[in-house]
Amino acid sequence: MHDEWINVGSVADVDEDDTHSVEVDGKRVCLYKLGGEIYATDGTCTHGEADLSLGMVVNSCLIECPLHEGTFDIRTGRAVDAPCTEPLHCYPVKVEQGVIYLRPVR
Ligand code: FES
Repeated sequence: MHDEWINVGSVADVDEDDTHSVEVDGKRVCLYKLGGEIYATDGTCTHGEADLSLGMVVNSCLIECPLHEGTFDIRTGRAVDAPCTEPLHCYPVKVEQGVIYLRPVR
């Protein structure tokens, strides 16, 4: 992955309290819109290989993994509910004129 801002689509593509999967440099990334703000995390659960875009946003800020129902805080990546213990990587995002840009730094 590199260090530039990458266009990952339109804000209109991401529904409030839902997930939207994109691929960045061959890696699955999950986008979210919470209270109108865009967030981005790795798209794969740190507990297993589950696709988090198939999970559910719960309590307005958590992504619940579809496989074992562990959760992460979308805003920080913090593992909240077992069996998840390793945090989820979060990416910097910015929105300009309705377009989402993500910086794929690790
Ligand atoms: Fe996500 Fe197990 S694979 S909680």
